[in-house]
Amino acid sequence: MRHATPKPILLEDYKPPGYLVDSIDLLFDLGEEFTQVTSTLSIRANPEAEPMSEMLLDGEDLELLSLRLNGIPLTDGYVTGPGFLKIDGMPPGRFVLEIVTLIHPSANTALEGLYLSSGLFCTQCEAQGFRKITYFPDRPDVMSVFTTTLIAPKNNYPVLLSNGNLQSSGDLLDGRHFARWHDPFPKPCYLFALVAGQLDCLEDRYQTGSGREIRLQIFSEPQDIGKCGYALESLKHAMRWDEAQFGREYDLDLYMIVAVSHFNMGAMENKGLNIFNTKFVLASPDTATDSDYEHIEGVIGHEYFHNWTGNRITLRDWFQLSLKEGLTVFRDQEFSADRHSRAVKRIDEVNLLRNRQFLEDAGPLAHPVRPSSYIEINNFYTLTVYEKGAEIVRMIRTLLGHQGFRKGMDLYFDRLDGRAVTCEDFLRCMEDANQVSLGDFSRWYQQSGTPRVRVEELYDHKTATLTLRMMQSCDKTIDQDEKLPLVIPIEIGLVGPEGEELPVRTADSKALSPYPSGVLTLSDASAEFHLIGVPPDTTVSVLRNFSAPVRLEQPRSPKKLAFQFENDPDPFNRWDAGQILVMDAIKAIYSDDAKEDLRSLIIAAYQKLLAMNIEDHSYLALLLQLPDVDYIGSFIGSYDPVRLTEARESLKMEISSAMADLWAQHYVAHHREDYSRFDAKAIGERRFKNTCLDYLGALAPEPSDSYALRQFQDSSTMTDRLAALTLLVNRDHPEREACLHDFYEQWKNEDLVLCKWFSLQAASPSYGTLERIKSLMAHPRFDLRTPNHVRSLLGAFSQTNPVNFHRADGLGYEFMADCVIELNPVNPQIAARTLTSLTTWRRYNESRQNLMRSALEKVARAPELSPDVFEVASKALA
Ligand code: TRP
Ligand code: ZN
Repeated sequence: MRHATPKPILLEDYKPPGYLVDSIDLLFDLGEEFTQVTSTLSIRANPEAEPMSEMLLDGEDLELLSLRLNGIPLTDGYVTGPGFLKIDGMPPGRFVLEIVTLIHPSANTALEGLYLSSGLFCTQCEAQGFRKITYFPDRPDVMSVFTTTLIAPKNNYPVLLSNGNLQSSGDLLDGRHFARWHDPFPKPCYLFALVAGQLDCLEDRYQTGSGREIRLQIFSEPQDIGKCGYALESLKHAMRWDEAQFGREYDLDLYMIVAVSHFNMGAMENKGLNIFNTKFVLASPDTATDSDYEHIEGVIGHEYFHNWTGNRITLRDWFQLSLKEGLTVFRDQEFSADRHSRAVKRIDEVNLLRNRQFLEDAGPLAHPVRPSSYIEINNFYTLTVYEKGAEIVRMIRTLLGHQGFRKGMDLYFDRLDGRAVTCEDFLRCMEDANQVSLGDFSRWYQQSGTPRVRVEELYDHKTATLTLRMMQSCDKTIDQDEKLPLVIPIEIGLVGPEGEELPVRTADSKALSPYPSGVLTLSDASAEFHLIGVPPDTTVSVLRNFSAPVRLEQPRSPKKLAFQFENDPDPFNRWDAGQILVMDAIKAIYSDDAKEDLRSLIIAAYQKLLAMNIEDHSYLALLLQLPDVDYIGSFIGSYDPVRLTEARESLKMEISSAMADLWAQHYVAHHREDYSRFDAKAIGERRFKNTCLDYLGALAPEPSDSYALRQFQDSSTMTDRLAALTLLVNRDHPEREACLHDFYEQWKNEDLVLCKWFSLQAASPSYGTLERIKSLMAHPRFDLRTPNHVRSLLGAFSQTNPVNFHRADGLGYEFMADCVIELNPVNPQIAARTLTSLTTWRRYNESRQNLMRSALEKVARAPELSPDVFEVASKALA
């Protein structure tokens, strides 16, 4: 039997908290089966709220042992119910409430609150996990000073950590010991953390720009401590970067990171004590790929940057989530762009946005960057809140210019430090610091859906004037019918016939934009912009650097696109022109439209590209990669995903065979067997070389088979070994099983490598993959309670294996539904995420729609659905 239908929480219902908690003193008596938590709160009525005599605290799955008010045991005048504790007749003024609860860490498989991860105690409190530890006003606008005492048996839990600074520690009788931590910065309870266990520590020091010494510590299970070096280096880079770019220094004397193997997300920014998924900390050349290294640096940066954007300035309520996440993603993107190839980084970001966020915006889970209602907040840690949220911040910088943006950020830190604020507060700082009005720009936070921008070019030879006529529109989304015009910055450039950059000129200086940077800005439903002194035969390069998260519709001939692909000085638009050409060719194959000359044009362009000596090989690799099936599909009404994948493969095959010698030649020229360097040049060569190998792999067995096999056997990096094994597996090479077996035997004790072994099998287009995944789920090393394992099998299957996931018999969908039902009681957050793969049914042809819907219905009918899964299933079926 299902629980009563969960009620949505609404932004418009926000009310300030009735009571404030100035300080909280926590005592944890840690035990695996039972942990006793004593919480002593110093409370007062909130002067900004309506007075009330009852106090409501949040609490879930807690056993209440005792309550004392100002030292006197409470025996009546309170009630507990599902999710709450209500106390009547609160005294006026300040008072002290002591609450003793009992919790059960070893039974906690949801990984929220206090749980055990491979014998370590750890916590995850964002968004609402603290209420699973003790009764408390679990909302981010209640900020308290935390003091935390941990008590545990010393031999099993020698290391005891919490937020802030260590105040005291020592041994107790009977083999136990204690540690007492104090965090001087008031914070919401979602930033609370504790860790206890057998951990090794890698330690370093960092001197801030103002000369303060900070102790840096990374903790991991002892066998992994040798793999923490790169994370530590990344942390120091991030600290230096935030000082240089934003003038922000770290504020405590100690910064700790702990790597745990059971974690629902990537990492968590708890004050002074980040907790990380091992995947984003541990790396060594033989176990981690080049991309793994990049992700580690990015996530380490992300959590570090939260110390200012999230922790020092926090959220008023969870609807404001993007205030910290969008801004912090933007910061980590810029950090990575400064550390590596900016062009490659930007293309990776746009690929993520277009391949996945655009689908979210077009589907049944569409919501604005700042949602106005939710059932389960955990379902709103989305690509929209994170990635589109970062695009909003990027657009603000584009409109205000780098200096104006920095002024706005300085004011933000200055004005709002120590407070719990909203997205409007952020926008107001940007406006006030620059003395401009951002006007309707704030609609980006409120409107869901991906806007379209159509551009028409009208050239007047007589006056050498180029008129750009621009129109914006946005399809209605599941959650909103009415869409108003947005403020859209559109970076443009003019390119001459030799690929030279030409000046962009207008009759008056405000003709393109009312904003300080002068970037062309479309603020109305349509507008015309006149560029003067434009020579004939000029190419206009629109939406450079992807200056806004929109779908650009700019009619261009294949010849023009090929010109841009070869010549556009903007690396983003150059790449994008190639993507459009290729997409058009694939769409043509899909709809049985010959278009042979289009394909020859693409092949000729690729050949020229290879002859050009492009130095950034990572960028070159991107120029040569075909767009994802999901993105191509978003330009076709209800489509057959298997046939579309085949169309894409057929183009790839044609490119492969037309250029077979070139691919082999470049592969050989760039392949190094013993090359475990990790600088940008080495990484770029590996990317490019493996792209060549991938094209070679689309051909009949030789020579690619021997290249792949040799690369698998002889390489010294995980990047190369994995690229080769993926090919051998995807192409059913005769040595496939033997290689998989060798790989397993070599790496079975490295959990993160084991995950790669799971993923690459789940992603294989081979016939029989579904059966293989089912048997892997029964593998002795597979554990449904380890989110990394679930993601590596089910995430890889649903996101990267269209041929098998979308099997015409619907067994791929049914399998996912069964997995969601099994995960629901174990880990609702992960179950709900897994289910999102079935929510995109409206995009596909009718037979798939029916099959996906019935899989969703099967989930919706299952007993005891968590609010997480209920929300996703019911929205998907609405
Ligand atoms: N705030 C985390 C971040 O940096 C997100 C996060 C980590 C999270 N663990 C979580 C969110 C668990 C919800 C539940 O992005
Ligand atoms: Zn974050």
